[in-house]
Amino acid sequence: MILITGIAGFIGSHLAENLDYEIIGIDNFNDYYDPSIKRDNVREILSKKKNVIIEEGDIRDKNFLNKIFDKYKIEIVVHLAAMAGVRPSLKKPELYEDVNIKGTMNLLEIMAKKNIKKYIFASSSSVYGNIKEVPFSEDMKIDTPISFYAATKKACEEINHVYHSIYDIDTINLRFFTVYGPRQRPDLAIHKFTKLIYENKPIEVYGDGKQKRDFTYIDDILDGIKKSIQYLNNNKKVFLTLNLGESRTVELSYVISLIEKNLSKKADIIYKDPEPGDLPITFADISKAKKIIGYSPQKEIEDGIKEFINWFIVKNK
Ligand SMILES: NC(=O)c1ccc[n+]([C@@H]2O[C@H](COP(=O)([O-])OP(=O)(O)OC[C@H]3O[C@@H](n4cnc5c(N)ncnc54)[C@H](O)[C@@H]3O)[C@@H](O)[C@H]2O)c1
Repeated sequence: MILITGIAGFIGSHLAENLDYEIIGIDNFNDYYDPSIKRDNVREILSKKKNVIIEEGDIRDKNFLNKIFDKYKIEIVVHLAAMAGVRPSLKKPELYEDVNIKGTMNLLEIMAKKNIKKYIFASSSSVYGNIKEVPFSEDMKIDTPISFYAATKKACEEINHVYHSIYDIDTINLRFFTVYGPRQRPDLAIHKFTKLIYENKPIEVYGDGKQKRDFTYIDDILDGIKKSIQYLNNNKKVFLTLNLGESRTVELSYVISLIEKNLSKKADIIYKDPEPGDLPITFADISKAKKIIGYSPQKEIEDGIKEFINWFIVKNK
């Protein structure tokens, strides 16, 4: 059985629908964004899949975690639960530390105790901080995070290594590069801009719109997670850190133009000063993930935005 933490979220709900495994999912349905979106995600999962069980609880609650690990025969953990926003982490660093670091350690402690050896951790491109050299590759020295969110993800990668070295937990840290697609979190740029443009409201762009992102379509992230699970099942003594991006970086202003085109509306853009914590560019070198797990991203941004907008329009009719 696979444990997915954060199952009700954007990536977790897609993963639950796309894995051919018995799944136990946990989530605390917090109000970082409207929890009714997470309830809807769960309803959709349960309407499509028979082999998924969902329990409500918090990864900071050790009693809750103990109960879950006693009740279900968990063999693999895919750990997605986290406080996931970059900018909000600057306002609530202690919450980010509590959920992202302590929550992760709670999970690893129980895995060690219960002898569970297979583990995937959702890390982030934000760990590259303000490194100027692109594309970002996994062997770069990443000592310059610029948000608490990024620092918690980097800390977790290191903590994961400690548990790997002491308890032989086979581990893959997956550094996701800005993920988008149906059900994308409403706080993320593509979703936020789409909603505002759709409602004929102005959008605020921090900086000049020339910041570049390696936007990764949800199906490609699922491909990377599934192949990581296969790799863990077939190998021992694993500790890997892999970038999952498209390896194509595009300007935010280009993405806005794609949203405009697909909505057949013009954006009213208000330019603001760049926010602290924002990276000027993300761009993934994915050669390691291709070579080791056979990661094979497919989606061009032009097609991905089209699919996202199609989903958004149906959802908001
Ligand atoms: N979406 C992206 O672009 C992106 C990029 C890089 C990394 N990530 C990472 O991927 C993971 C999933 O991201 P997402 O976009 O699906 O976010 P999300 O917020 O939609 O999903 C996270 C889920 O975790 C749950 N959760 C949060 N704190 C919890 C706690 N204390 N106990 C139990 N459940 C808790 C939330 O309720 C939510 O449903 C996160 O770890 C995030 O940091 C996401």
